[in-house]
Amino acid sequence: MSNSTHGVERAVHGALDYGELERLNLRPWEVLDFSVNANPYGPSPRVREAVANAAIDRYPDRECLELRRAILDYELTTIDLPLGSIVCGNGAAELIWAIARAYLKPGLKTAIIGPTFGEYRVASLTAGATVVEFQAQATEGFQLDIAAVTACIRREQPSLVWLCNPNNPTGTWLGRQDVLELAETCQRAGAMFVVDEAYWRFVFPYEAYSAIELVDTTARLHSIVLRSLTKDFALAGLRLGYALATPDVAELLRAQLPAWNVNGIAQEAAIAALTDRTHLKTTLDRCGIVPHSVSPSLSVSPRARCATGSSYCSPCRRSYESSEDPHGARNSLDSREEHAGDGLVSHLRAG
Ligand SMILES: Cc1ncc(COP(=O)(O)O)c(C=O)c1O
Repeated sequence: MSNSTHGVERAVHGALDYGELERLNLRPWEVLDFSVNANPYGPSPRVREAVANAAIDRYPDRECLELRRAILDYELTTIDLPLGSIVCGNGAAELIWAIARAYLKPGLKTAIIGPTFGEYRVASLTAGATVVEFQAQATEGFQLDIAAVTACIRREQPSLVWLCNPNNPTGTWLGRQDVLELAETCQRAGAMFVVDEAYWRFVFPYEAYSAIELVDTTARLHSIVLRSLTKDFALAGLRLGYALATPDVAELLRAQLPAWNVNGIAQEAAIAALTDRTHLKTTLDRCGIVPHSVSPSLSVSPRARCATGSSYCSPCRRSYESSEDPHGARNSLDSREEHAGDGLVSHLRAG
């Protein structure tokens, strides 16, 4: 299969690459995947129940009404947005492409604040736009020089600016003042400002700031905020994300999406996940502690490095061979913590 769309190279991502696994003769449940940043404790038990009971013989709600109400009620408690400000997508990834189609075309320019998530670039190039990338430097710990970024936006006059905050893969984070400054610079340059907050819940200790305030109609800032439900709610396999924008912008994005873009099972699952605040809080609280406690306990030796740059390692103390766990019992970090050192999984994917 070609690795390009319209001659544009596809983005390289973390997560399991099933073709790669086949070549290495590994099965998905034999690999402990550290190349993805998602809630490792898995989804709320309510999600499995909702999935089991979801109607699969009728078309889902094209408008995602109940899901959007749940997003308003549970995720947007600090802001008063109308239902029309929310657009649901088959993952935030689908919305990135919808944004690119809505705002970019040949002859237009887009600016990416990088190094960052690869889909912005591929979606923008596929829409025919020219891409300029501002690159934060490794020598500076990838901290952004906001003055240099705003100068770049003023100089380049892009139609659209992509910011990932917190940023994947550098893990850097911009606070309110910096995001506002970028939003205002974009406004003056006539650019749409997109803030991807796919990882907003993974800033520890928790940060109160979110760019959703930019979307408030009274802010009059030309902005779109992207959120994903696949990471904090651990629904990667179901694919769910949403965009927040003023209702007119939201309408433009909706026009770029096919009908029924969010399937019925995903809608039911997401509503169930959103309502279980206890599961969300307890698991994320543990995420804030685990990086320090788990990493030293994983003693690994490099095993295979693949063409894509991903690494599979096998735990050193591999005392037990078991690979027949297709139902994901081992997908929770509870079992990861207990068993990674025992070799219950045979490989770790590191990047
Ligand atoms: C920064 C960022 N935005 C968006 C996405 C896509 O998220 P989703 O799974 O909701 O499509 C990812 C996935 O890794 C990501 O890293």
